[in-house]
Amino acid sequence: MKRTLTLGIETSCDETAAAVLSGGREILSNIISTQIPIHQKFGGVVPEIASRKHIVNIMPVIDEAINTAGVDIHEINQIAVTYGPGLVGALLVGVSAAKTLAFALKIPLIAVNHLEGHIFANFLSAPNLEPPFLALVVSGGHSSLINMKGYNDFELIGQTRDDAAGEAFDKIARVMNLPYPGGPQIDKLAKEGNPDAIDFPRAKVSEFDFSFSGLKSAVLNYLNSAQMKGEEINKADVAASFQKAVIDSLVDKTIDAAEKFKLKKIVLAGGVAANSSLEENLRGMCESHGLEFFYPTKILCTDNAAMIACRGYYQSLVKNFAPMTLNAVPNLSLTAKK
Ligand code: KG4
Ligand code: ZN
Repeated sequence: MKRTLTLGIETSCDETAAAVLSGGREILSNIISTQIPIHQKFGGVVPEIASRKHIVNIMPVIDEAINTAGVDIHEINQIAVTYGPGLVGALLVGVSAAKTLAFALKIPLIAVNHLEGHIFANFLSAPNLEPPFLALVVSGGHSSLINMKGYNDFELIGQTRDDAAGEAFDKIARVMNLPYPGGPQIDKLAKEGNPDAIDFPRAKVSEFDFSFSGLKSAVLNYLNSAQMKGEEINKADVAASFQKAVIDSLVDKTIDAAEKFKLKKIVLAGGVAANSSLEENLRGMCESHGLEFFYPTKILCTDNAAMIACRGYYQSLVKNFAPMTLNAVPNLSLTAKK
């Protein structure tokens, strides 16, 4: 049987990425051109610079993805592109490139929700994984619990009321003068600290929602008051205690949701899934509750186009294609109808 080749394109934030997938799960290429060193100078992503870098990088990255896959561009059967959520100028670069190629090659265009892409990264890491399962998506912009009933049938059961988990990591790192992105820096520093040194608060919000802004304020207050009193701060203890507070909320709610919705498999996704302590804690809790745990390889945790191509492939199976009038939707939510 002829294989289906999907070209994936991702430009929602600060990575320009393209990938070629054979069928739903075989990665032929996965090219990521990161802009992190450029944005580091500013302590965070500068939207206009991100757009400008995407426009420079997009075609070379697509070209490299096609060449590395060892295919001819005319063999590509369909193009999947992230159309939201993300930075509007950044998204428009990927969407325009995808529309142009789909139009020129006369092949279908598939509009992919970036958050759904993060969940689908797990299908690439675990070839035998199938729905139903519970997904915890933790990224720079989102912290969500999703009941994945099928490949194209899911329900949002909880989300953050304020800051996303990754956003909290990045903000705390910034006030501690650690470089952007803060998540990996806090992760590293926390390894040398005591997670029980400071008792930061765990937010009490309704059932499966999260909130990290109170925790963020508590850490800022702790740092400010220590500075005012001229006390020495143990940064590693602050990082470890803050990280533990985030992880406790994420893990507890995930286990409770799995019990309520009678789901036996837990899937971790999004950039914060690269956090070693979150992975360890969730894995441990899953084992003690008799749940199966899935977690993408590091390169598939953070933004990439293989996960977008994978999500796109499963949309194509139910003929969920996009019109040539497709636009970027920066605040796209997980439940939005396409
Ligand atoms: O999914 P992602 O690559 O981009 C978005 O869709 O937002 O996630 C980026 C976020 C950033 O906030 C970054 O600090 C965080 O993921 N992150 C981490 C780690 N690696 C990346 N957070 C905690 N620990 C890590 N090891
Ligand atoms: Zn992402």
